[in-house]
Amino acid sequence: MKVTIFGTGYVGLVTGACLAEMGNHVVCVDIDAGKVERLKRGEVPIYEPGLESIVQSNHASGRLDFTTEAAPAIAHGELIFIAVGTPPDEDGSADLQYVQKVAATIGRHLERYAVVVNKSTVPMGTADRVREAIAAELAARRATVEFDVVSNPEFLKEGAAVEDCLRPDRIVVGASSTRAVALLRKLYAPFNRNHDRMVVMDERSAELTKYAANAMLATKISFMNEIANIAERVGADVELVRQGIGSDPRIGYSFIYPGAGYGGSCFPKDVQALERTAHAHGYEARLLGAVEAVNRQQKGKLFELISRHFDGQLAGRTIALWGLAFKPNTDDMREASSRRLMEQLWEAGAKVRAFDPEARDEARRLYGERADLVLCEHAMDAVQGADVLAVVTEWKTFRSPDFAAIRAALAVPAIFDGRNLYDPAVVEEAGLAYYGIGRGRSLQAPQ
Ligand code: UDX
Repeated sequence: MKVTIFGTGYVGLVTGACLAEMGNHVVCVDIDAGKVERLKRGEVPIYEPGLESIVQSNHASGRLDFTTEAAPAIAHGELIFIAVGTPPDEDGSADLQYVQKVAATIGRHLERYAVVVNKSTVPMGTADRVREAIAAELAARRATVEFDVVSNPEFLKEGAAVEDCLRPDRIVVGASSTRAVALLRKLYAPFNRNHDRMVVMDERSAELTKYAANAMLATKISFMNEIANIAERVGADVELVRQGIGSDPRIGYSFIYPGAGYGGSCFPKDVQALERTAHAHGYEARLLGAVEAVNRQQKGKLFELISRHFDGQLAGRTIALWGLAFKPNTDDMREASSRRLMEQLWEAGAKVRAFDPEARDEARRLYGERADLVLCEHAMDAVQGADVLAVVTEWKTFRSPDFAAIRAALAVPAIFDGRNLYDPAVVEEAGLAYYGIGRGRSLQAPQ
């Protein structure tokens, strides 16, 4: 099928490349000419496993192209995806100006029936607003062209986006026109595998499904962080509690890992946006507010533990930090817990020696050259000459380090395990003090 995608950000690029991989002819549009040129050369601006190779191979085979020109791209697509950003505005609501602009552009150039597919995470009612914006432009040029607008939210996880896109566990389609549903069924048929994964509903329900999924996952995390904070105070180990509750299939093992808080481009933004939407409709979403508040507090947890370890005297100390990205397998530092920790440490007069397998360039871009941040090439370099080590992101390479070498390198041998990666007994046996999240020991004085 012929597909056009507006926006070559995370969602747009992954969707475009995967649809091309399935045999469709995809044209991706972006207003950033430099980015379009780089993509044409096969340079992918984000780190995402498997993405670069399918971008390059599909571009080479002519199934995936990039352009800055909206008009021919709109003429190309029988399905036109909107996958531009919806950043939070000052009060946390999703800013729809980019979605609206693309909708208007489509209205200005549309010459024959097409289905406009909203891929961006947008508040309830956006499909109607996109429909109105297109209709207004068509009316302005006195054109009568039929079109449908559907909502088709993505559920991609960074670091596994290509896999999630090629093998989705569900495909949510919000549409009120049978013609549009038929086209989307055709597009997604190769993604169905063993059974029909398409869940068809109305547009508003599809829009809310995306927020509800993310809010539910964020809730699970904040809930576990709350239990961790209780465990810490009552002398229980949240890791045992996690295993104890996860075995109940109604609860499940996934997304109940306590830690230094959730980050990323979705959870913080979407929980806030859903709360704002509820508020705008006269409902106070208390649970969502609490999920956010717990997360905010949790992002300060490592600092609190480190500060307590040093009796509040952090000036002149050097903290080794493992993990800058908001989670493993990405270089994304949006809302990352590492940022809050570094900023709190700097504020207290401490220095940071940081290592991350992928996010060092991103950290350089965000913070520039500064005397109190050294970005190291290897994990052990970060530890060399530091007082203590804090682990913020659960990269696999951090899972079984040489504790004896860490002990030898640190001036004040202690590990602050922000993702509960280590067995406290093993760390302590190596002669290091251990602090985890909700493990009953964190409030005790170091031995
Ligand atoms: C999320 C959703 O998972 C995805 O379906 C949606 O489309 C976009 O938002 P993503 O932001 O890429 O994806 O990251 P995810 O893997 O969900 O992790 C989010 C954050 O939660 C990370 O900071 C992670 O460290 C944290 N997390 C996750 C926990 O603290 N505990 C857990 O048990 C799971």
